[in-house]
Amino acid sequence: MHSACYVSAVPRVLAVDPRAPDPAILAEAAEILRAGGLVAFPTETVYGLGARALDVRAIARVYAAKGRPAHHPLIAHVDGEAGARRIAATWSDRASRLATAFWPGPLTLVVPRAAHVPAEVAGGGDSIAVRAPANAIARALIAALGDAIAAPSANRYQEVSPTIAAHVVKSLGSIPFGVDLVLDGGACDRGIESTVVDVRADVAIVLRPGPIGIDALRAIDPSVVVGASVASDEARASPGMDVRHYAPRARLIVAGTWAEAQESACGLAASGARVGLVLHSERVPDLTRELAKNGNVLVRNLPRDAAGYARGFYAALHDMDDEGVDAIIVEDVPHDDAWWAVADRLRRSTT
Ligand code: TXA
Ligand code: MG
Repeated sequence: MHSACYVSAVPRVLAVDPRAPDPAILAEAAEILRAGGLVAFPTETVYGLGARALDVRAIARVYAAKGRPAHHPLIAHVDGEAGARRIAATWSDRASRLATAFWPGPLTLVVPRAAHVPAEVAGGGDSIAVRAPANAIARALIAALGDAIAAPSANRYQEVSPTIAAHVVKSLGSIPFGVDLVLDGGACDRGIESTVVDVRADVAIVLRPGPIGIDALRAIDPSVVVGASVASDEARASPGMDVRHYAPRARLIVAGTWAEAQESACGLAASGARVGLVLHSERVPDLTRELAKNGNVLVRNLPRDAAGYARGFYAALHDMDDEGVDAIIVEDVPHDDAWWAVADRLRRSTT
């Protein structure tokens, strides 16, 4: 008799109802975190790959699972201002005002790091990023652990962030010890990563555009400025803010209008390529509909509003990658405050 030992690389996935998260599942997930394990969980932005923030070995596992350089800092997820204060060396009025206005929610604040928080979480730096997520499963998990959870987006380095549990499994499922448990809470509400604001200086500096726009931030704190790393590609040297990021496998091309997008798709499809076409026009143009029929052009028409578009954008990129397209052509989005974060991600996916 032969005996074989199969080690499944597929992580456990447990469905959790975000309206009423099952306490038994959360207790088990918290136990895994306490033991140094990794739990992927939904937030309102994207899925996170969670580890206990104060556990240096668990943090090392997160970096290894993602294949992420050690100097790229992680975000610590907390229950609110009280939890943030526990891991911050100091907590300014500015931090308080912004946290009061936007937490729980998709805003991350960079503050001075408390001495007991391992430097490894913060990529070796003396600051720490904190955020109180709004998603009920994320909140329940933080409460069950009773401690901060460090969580980058639950994807391999430079890949598109996950907005459903299946994206997490696709990206990290085959990585040895990549993730011990995935909590499946359905699709993320916002679909794009949190706004990151450094509140350590005399002015608040946006390091990453996100669901909370510049106008909303300035209404609370008029000092808010856009960081050089966001404004220009040359200056983008701050940790974790590479120009290339959030990129699908296929080459991504931004076209000025839907007509130009359609024209490029036609051209590429004619030369035998499989093409993805991401539009947000009111209706899919007739020619595009025709193109889609021949199977070489895959069309996704996303909502016209920025929030709806953001919710579906990464999933569209994931789907097109899964279909094995050679190129993804995206109709450019408006360049106003509402579309700020989407335009930023679009730019980073093309470089
Ligand atoms: O919405 C989100 O923020 C998601 C969910 C899971 O919360 N998380 C996320 O994490 O996007 P990650 O690791 O993929 O991106 C963290 C971002 C990076 O742009 C990083 O540079 C910045 O936050 N960041 C983290 N800590 C920082 C620090 N101490 N100083 C400056 N930037 C920091
Ligand atoms: Mg990320």
